[in-house]
Amino acid sequence: MALQEYKRLNDSLFTYKGSVFPMYDEYELTPEYIDSLEDFSIRDDDVFAVTFPKSGTVWTQRIVTLIYEEDFPEGKDSYTYDLMPWLEYLDRDNNYNKQRSPFLSQSYSTRPSPRLFCTHLQHHLAPKGLRERKAKVIYVMRNPKDVMVSYFHYSNMVTQLESLENFDEMMDKFLGGQTVGGSWFDHVRGWYTNQDKYNILFLSYEEMIKDLRSAVVRLCEFLGKNCSDATVDRIVERATFKNMSRDPKTNYDHVPENFNDYNKGKFFRKGTTGDWKNSLTVAQSERFDRVFQEKMKDLPLKFIWDIAEIQG
Ligand code: A3P
Repeated sequence: MALQEYKRLNDSLFTYKGSVFPMYDEYELTPEYIDSLEDFSIRDDDVFAVTFPKSGTVWTQRIVTLIYEEDFPEGKDSYTYDLMPWLEYLDRDNNYNKQRSPFLSQSYSTRPSPRLFCTHLQHHLAPKGLRERKAKVIYVMRNPKDVMVSYFHYSNMVTQLESLENFDEMMDKFLGGQTVGGSWFDHVRGWYTNQDKYNILFLSYEEMIKDLRSAVVRLCEFLGKNCSDATVDRIVERATFKNMSRDPKTNYDHVPENFNDYNKGKFFRKGTTGDWKNSLTVAQSERFDRVFQEKMKDLPLKFIWDIAEIQG
């Protein structure tokens, strides 16, 4: 291990090779494991949903698993998490997974194709095989003020993450790249500026909010799945915020209470665009804007910051 690159940030996070990882008891998330992922053997028909945390990962995970539903009849009753797990969160002894679903008794390397994964890895830590442009990568981004507000509530709910007192503290951490996933700016920049190396589709959370059906159609096309109109309609229906938050297979309520303190919130919180306006003061928002302008000015990315931009 390149020890000099490993540093504990606090009781719940460590930095490694320019990113930040949680120290969850349940997962074997070590620098050695992170290093090994660069050589993780990629198959041509693998699919990866890549996100910075709180950008719509679970939503994308749900849509992709619905698109592939017929490929996994044995996974019909499984949690979306089990059908499309996080590459870097390797269950420590797989016991917890096995209790939930026999589908999970295979390791990642022996899972049947097509394999579906989520990951929060930064571009430079992702499996090198993805750069051969065979496997498919879906990168979903979300306006970072909503990402930050979502993370604030999430980290207060997850018992093993550091709780943040207020949005000044939250902003120091987020803008300083000290939350899970590392710097949002580096994450987006890394994947966006290296897109030529990947077979990659960029989508935004806000596009999904604006027109979920179009997003599902784009995903079907990118994944080479010939979905009928009726299938697309069914996927859209099952992937709405309301339906996902009510469905025990998708709402993450199965996560044990020693991991999530449900008195402090729930995973399906608001599911909208522009909620940051309810949390940040004008001064905080302006501070955020200054950093955003400085760090993103050379990238041609446009974000939607307000629900009115979508509805108007
Ligand atoms: P909020 O906390 O703003 O509500 P991730 O999956 O990357 O952790 O992202 C979580 C965010 O996506 C949460 O945002 C959650 O509510 C939102 N989300 C999950 N499923 C959604 C859906 N079907 N529609 C809209 N938002 C969704």
